Amino acid sequence: MSQTTTENSAALALRQALGEYATGVAIVTARDAAGDPVGLTINSFAAVSLEPPLVLWSLGRQSQLIEPFTLRSHWAINVLGVDQKPLAERFSQPGAARFAGLEWKLGAGGTPLLAGCSAWFECRSETRHDGGDHLLLIGRVEHYERASRPPLLFHGSRYFTLGEPA
Ligand SMILES: Cc1cc2nc3c(=O)[nH]c(=O)nc-3n(C[C@H](O)[C@H](O)[C@H](O)COP(=O)(O)O)c2cc1C
Repeated sequence: MSQTTTENSAALALRQALGEYATGVAIVTARDAAGDPVGLTINSFAAVSLEPPLVLWSLGRQSQLIEPFTLRSHWAINVLGVDQKPLAERFSQPGAARFAGLEWKLGAGGTPLLAGCSAWFECRSETRHDGGDHLLLIGRVEHYERASRPPLLFHGSRYFTLGEPA
């Protein structure tokens, strides 16, 4: 077995183990240097602190969107509802016209907010930290809204709906 194959299967095994941790799904949005909306699907979103109100997500260093997310003072977390799986798929596809035909508006911090989500967090970019092959972004929540739609869930590389309470 070649060195590369060994590394790839080790990375896959780690990815699969990490995939046992079920999460929600969000689209993080900002605007690029031309002012056009940009965004990508994430499941690294996490609450950090209530006082001050801080949230966290991580961005792959190979992403095409490193520039807007490090350039701009604000970004927004759009938490996806269960009927937004097509959006999750579209916003994780390289080269897709991600905002084409979508309903969205600009929030107070100039961030694109997608219609039909279950919650929105408009954040001022607070700090960035090294996270290996990802960049950790911490933001201060300046505005938020909640629509309480049923969530879209992600587990083991597949999307799910919420089941019964345990
Ligand atoms: C469910 C799901 C969760 C993802 N979570 C992240 C994430 O937390 N951070 C990240 O950088 N990419 C994540 N990705 C990958 C991005 O959505 C996207 O595929 C990748 O960034 C390539 O597009 P880009 O170059 O426009 O960023 C996730 C993809 C999926 C399907």
